[in-house]
Amino acid sequence: MDKFIIRGGINLKGRVNVSGAKNAALAIMPACLLHSGVNRLENIPEVNDIFTMMKLMTHLGVKVDYEKGGLVIDASEIKSQEAPYEHVKKMRASVYVLGPLLSRYGYAKVSLPGGCAWGPRPINLHLEAMKKLGAEIDIENGYIIARSKRLNGAHIHFDISSVGATGNALLAATLAKGTTKISNAAIEPEITSLAEFLVKMGARITGIGTNQLEIEGVNELKASDFRIIPDRIEAGTLLIAAAITNGSIELEMEYPQYIDAVTSKLEDSGLKLLYQNNILSFNANNYMPQSVDVLTAIYPGFPTDMQAQWTALMTLGNSTATITDSIYQDRFKHVPELNRLGARIEIIRNSAVVKGVKKLTGAKVMSTDLRASASLVLAGLAAEGETEILRIYHLDRGYQKIEEKLKKLGADIQRVPTSEF
Ligand code: EPU
Repeated sequence: MDKFIIRGGINLKGRVNVSGAKNAALAIMPACLLHSGVNRLENIPEVNDIFTMMKLMTHLGVKVDYEKGGLVIDASEIKSQEAPYEHVKKMRASVYVLGPLLSRYGYAKVSLPGGCAWGPRPINLHLEAMKKLGAEIDIENGYIIARSKRLNGAHIHFDISSVGATGNALLAATLAKGTTKISNAAIEPEITSLAEFLVKMGARITGIGTNQLEIEGVNELKASDFRIIPDRIEAGTLLIAAAITNGSIELEMEYPQYIDAVTSKLEDSGLKLLYQNNILSFNANNYMPQSVDVLTAIYPGFPTDMQAQWTALMTLGNSTATITDSIYQDRFKHVPELNRLGARIEIIRNSAVVKGVKKLTGAKVMSTDLRASASLVLAGLAAEGETEILRIYHLDRGYQKIEEKLKKLGADIQRVPTSEF
């Protein structure tokens, strides 16, 4: 077990790059189960969730190798169609193997994910989509058992826009017989990117990038190479690291439009951002953040995965900011920890009401989930004195060597082994 020790108060300065998007890779890796060729995926982030997906795919019999920052995935031989509890309990995104296994083999046994650090996070929409495509679904001993002959195209309408359910429906419909229409599909860049990868593999999908997808099922797919898009949440987190420390940053990132919702809020808070030659930059010297309200929403709205980090920035705002999460009702485990660092935040239903303070002060705090942990790192970087963050394994699930990137910007952050839990 490791912890971070951060000595705060340093203005971060410099240039860093953005790694590949974990949530795109987690949807795209299972797409390789749909055919028996060898796919190459570049720009895969080295984070624990990816290692979990690699282990799960290896358990299924897939050969998965790391090569020069990418993955070579060979799904020629599948020896199991079961995603066991030991993998799924570590990571909900394991459920992405359901659609491809069912579609290619007519059978999948996938553990139900169970609880989450915040909740509830049901998977009913994934299951309803599979049923619409003709699967029989039973729940037995904590497992989803899905069976079907060849899936049949259908009209799937999602009552709620869901990233994961849209991904699973796309994965399943690609090899189904006939046409599938998905309405109210998620349009997050990670799902658009999954659709683009499937098309490269020979899938016939129209409406990509819109919330109405149409998939004309094909009999088989072909091998393909693909580059994972940049991680918009890592990008937003690094921008806030520079902002909250009155630093300056040059962030190497393609597709800055993925984080328009975040960069426009940063501008509302008083920063001037520039994008030139694939570099997003600003100087936050003399910046005193204006308090800016945020309402999280589906893409292109403000991402729920940036809610905790925005809350950290707003702790130093000039008045009061209300940060409301419309995607998850209960994603505020970071709030009591931020308050231990001197923040003044009250939770009212699904909103954090953040009264700006003059300064934060270092303390011992505890990570509770991935993005909550990121917010504690950000607050620790700004706080006076020393902040210790326990249970940083949550961060390692989704940020590639975050301390190395922060050190590159001048942060005083150390990873230290600890027996404290
Ligand atoms: N929902 C249902 N039923 C379902 C599926 C979702 O009611 O069957 C609800 C959820 O409870 C939630 C809303 O729909 O209120 C949206 O959830 P969604 O399905 O879009 O989320 P997800 O696919 O489980 C992905 C990301 C999350 C991110 C959300 C929202 C991956 C692997 N995970 O989760 O990322 O918060 O979309 O954008 O792509 C993270 O990276 O820290 C993370 C949690």
